[in-house]
Amino acid sequence: MCGISGRIGTNVLLFLICDLQKLEYRGYDSAGLGYFENDNIKTFKVKGRVSGLNKVKKKCASIGIAHTRWATHGKPSKANAHPHSSENGNWTIVHNGIIENAKQLKQEFGDEHFKSQTDTEVVAHLLEKYGDGVEAIKAAMERLKGSYAIVALNKAYPDTLFVMKNKSPLYIYQSEGQVTVTSDIITLDTGFYYDLEDGEYGFVTAEKMQIFNQKGKKIKKQLLPIKKDNIILPQKPFKHHMLKEIYDTPTCLQYLIDYYKNHPTGVDFSKYEHIKLVGCGTAYHTALMGVKFFEGIAGVESHAYIASEVYKPILKPNTLCIFISQSGETADTMEVMINAKKQGAETLLITNRMTSTMAKKADIVLPMMAGEEVAVASTKAYTCGVSVLYLLALQAAGKMNFTNLKRLQSEIAKLLSLSPQPRLARCKNVFFIGRGMDDVSAMEGCLKLKEITYINSIAFAAGELKHGTLALIDKHSLVFALNTCAERAGKMQAAIEEVRSRGGKVVELTTLPATNKDAVKFEHIDDNLDGLLIMVYLQLLAYYAAARKGYNPDKPRNLAKSVTVI
Ligand code: AGP
Repeated sequence: MCGISGRIGTNVLLFLICDLQKLEYRGYDSAGLGYFENDNIKTFKVKGRVSGLNKVKKKCASIGIAHTRWATHGKPSKANAHPHSSENGNWTIVHNGIIENAKQLKQEFGDEHFKSQTDTEVVAHLLEKYGDGVEAIKAAMERLKGSYAIVALNKAYPDTLFVMKNKSPLYIYQSEGQVTVTSDIITLDTGFYYDLEDGEYGFVTAEKMQIFNQKGKKIKKQLLPIKKDNIILPQKPFKHHMLKEIYDTPTCLQYLIDYYKNHPTGVDFSKYEHIKLVGCGTAYHTALMGVKFFEGIAGVESHAYIASEVYKPILKPNTLCIFISQSGETADTMEVMINAKKQGAETLLITNRMTSTMAKKADIVLPMMAGEEVAVASTKAYTCGVSVLYLLALQAAGKMNFTNLKRLQSEIAKLLSLSPQPRLARCKNVFFIGRGMDDVSAMEGCLKLKEITYINSIAFAAGELKHGTLALIDKHSLVFALNTCAERAGKMQAAIEEVRSRGGKVVELTTLPATNKDAVKFEHIDDNLDGLLIMVYLQLLAYYAAARKGYNPDKPRNLAKSVTVI
């Protein structure tokens, strides 16, 4: 979702545009810049891609702010793009997050005073109301409810970036006359940075930085080293990030195996009788796989929850709460984590971003080791997240070993070495069915297809077919039947026949030896891991279907990589 950069230095517009390019992966619909020119604040905004800002990149500026916007309040448009200015033009700001009392504050000023539909413009007006400088920031923050990371320019201080932060990340880098304020560490290279806490605000110039806490007291911030993952992935030329990321999977799994061989997880499973797993989208599917592993391998009672559906979590004593989040910034998941912690729960996060906000809050943080994932559709992070849960379940059962994970890694490498380009047959409706773990894989394969091809498809437990959905099956239906469980193979076969006898086309994806001759066969590794091998095939299926339709698989419409609003 939205991304922020603020800079002090030379030719900052060039650097700000580079920063926004690094933030593009988060998903956005418009972009903009604000900068000082002859003591006046100028803005330049575009609907659409960051490249639209290139028109001003050669302008000389030594201080500026920049933003990529993912619409929440008001449609994607140039008028709603950030930065937003106060009425007298003294303040110009960029904002990540949501101002929850924007409507009430807007009424105070009167609707006619606003040029955009955004909640952000309200903050600019509020700052103007309270004057200039850091005192105005303090006063405005006392009125604001919600989440915000804000970087602001104030006409009275042409060498200063003002900052304010609550529930949205904001980091400051300051070295040898260069300043970067960012919402994402990805824009920082090496060295040290400051991490703002909720309620903190202040200002930074090339030489000075002053931060205040919620009570208005000056505080000294601690410098933290910029940590980058040591995950070096092959730089082969791929047309899209998504395809590259699918092909990264074997290398990431190797990193994951090496890491967990040498780093104990630090989880003492003897303390827990129940496990609750929480995530959204693909991370929720990862959580569902976790339930299968903890119950099947270790015999520990477990439940998975869609984060946005957890209203009042009931936590029995001896419960471990596991959160899964590739980005570590997903607002729905974070809210559950905060509530769980308030109830005294022990929290474990499985993430791909060890410096994320959730990583700072969790008691134990375990890395996915997937390396940077840029495409909105999560691929290698799913495989790695599920693999971490598989190892945790082995550990809980006292059977920790890496043999089958290593086999999975080499089977995925073998599969990818054949450069498969699965084709999606023409059809009106697509269905994904499976039983047990295959049901979870069906859900994830279906989500991949939906999010990047915009094809309406559904996934459900194969046994449910005859309880309703069979009514939809006709000769225009295409059904992917995942079949990896020998014990349930007979029942899967029955479901396949039910579809075929109604004219539906079935593509069976299986690791079982005795199945239909036209089935797509995969190597059997381990009942728990077979689904991950098939998933690589389903990820490629979705990728090629989107690419053949002429869509950009990396940037599906309406979606963002990191969903930081509730
Ligand atoms: C997956 O392809 C999606 N992009 C989405 O479902 C994602 O997994 C979800 O938004 C959760 O993100 P997180 O892992 O960063 O928390």
